[in-house]
Amino acid sequence: MSAVLKNDRFLRALRREPVDRTPVWLMRQAGRYLPEYRASRKAAGSFLAMAKNPDLACEVTLQPLARFDLDAAILFSDILTIPDAMGLDLYFVEGEGPKFRHPVRDAASIAKLGVPDMETDLRYVMDAVRTIRRELDGRVPLIGFSGSPWTLACYMVEGGGSKDFARIKAMALNDPKALHALLSVNTDAVIAYLAAQRAAGAQALQVFDTWGGVLSPAMYREFSLPYLTRIAQELQRGDGAGRTPLILFGKGNAAYLDELSRSGAEGVGVDWLIELGDAARRTEGRVALQGNLDPTTLYGAPDAIRAQVRHALDSYAHGNGGSRDGHIFNLGHGMSPDMNPDHVGVLVDEVHAYSAR
Ligand code: CP3
Repeated sequence: MSAVLKNDRFLRALRREPVDRTPVWLMRQAGRYLPEYRASRKAAGSFLAMAKNPDLACEVTLQPLARFDLDAAILFSDILTIPDAMGLDLYFVEGEGPKFRHPVRDAASIAKLGVPDMETDLRYVMDAVRTIRRELDGRVPLIGFSGSPWTLACYMVEGGGSKDFARIKAMALNDPKALHALLSVNTDAVIAYLAAQRAAGAQALQVFDTWGGVLSPAMYREFSLPYLTRIAQELQRGDGAGRTPLILFGKGNAAYLDELSRSGAEGVGVDWLIELGDAARRTEGRVALQGNLDPTTLYGAPDAIRAQVRHALDSYAHGNGGSRDGHIFNLGHGMSPDMNPDHVGVLVDEVHAYSAR
């Protein structure tokens, strides 16, 4: 299975080792902005049909790598596979995003939840990881991922996306014990899920805490941070150069970088509301940093994109004692369907050209 890795920039940067160029990949790099993705999706019938078919998941995972000089692949799947496998029954409504047929809104329904079996209930995900590793043939490393316990709970309680997170915030106030029970079973499931992806061949792992930033600081420190820390502490991922690194990505996590950098994770992903240099100063070299271009930068013209890329690269280096090491270039959040693929090429090439050591 394990062909020799031809491009290990991404893994070296996560270990804060020297690299020839800053590695780059983009959240949602496989998606609707690519015409070939839209064609695959049309042929498959739906997003879920694609994600649940390992060969199709592999096909779309590789699509952005054929176009751009990316330094990592990310498994094509979704964070909502775990609650789906717990029995909440995931579906998508065109234009409305993900929904659950059976949301959990009280202690009784939470008490019934259990950790899904990774090689039966979620076998399609592990098969996709194995297929992608084989087809990648060592070109670049493969990133596996999961949602954070809090971000999964948001969708599980709200029953889908939300603007104000009214239901789950009410649960935090009125029945914190039930919410902790939900976060606890989610954490057990996330740890088992990431361990299974690692066993299937994932070479790095990322947790998406997309909605951690909607919490007040006290609530973040009660309902999100401790569970992220438990994942970083308990997830078995090997030692030394063979260790599978873990990245904790969060939107709105700038205020918590000190704590996140002491969680035990190898990397922290940040959004664009903080200068990367400030993030580097606050984390003092304890972790690699991933980020952090505003995704809407891709709506700019090529020269504007290049200028923003150089700013982020230089900001990191200034905050990191003059060194570009320990930085993985990315957006601060995922790409959108109406973005221009050519602009992604401009971004990726500028990262590599400007950061060449
Ligand atoms: O980054 C990648 O290229 C890997 C694949 C990936 C997807 N979703 C594919 C996807 C990853 C890592 C995710 C994570 C995910 N899914 C998150 C966390 C990161 C983030 O972006 O905040 C969240 C909150 C979800 C839940 C989810 N799934 C949403 C909000 C949507 C969009 C719904 C919509 O209609 O816009 C999805 C569906 C989804 N997941 C798509 C893709 C490419 C679009 C599906 C389609 O083709 O219609």
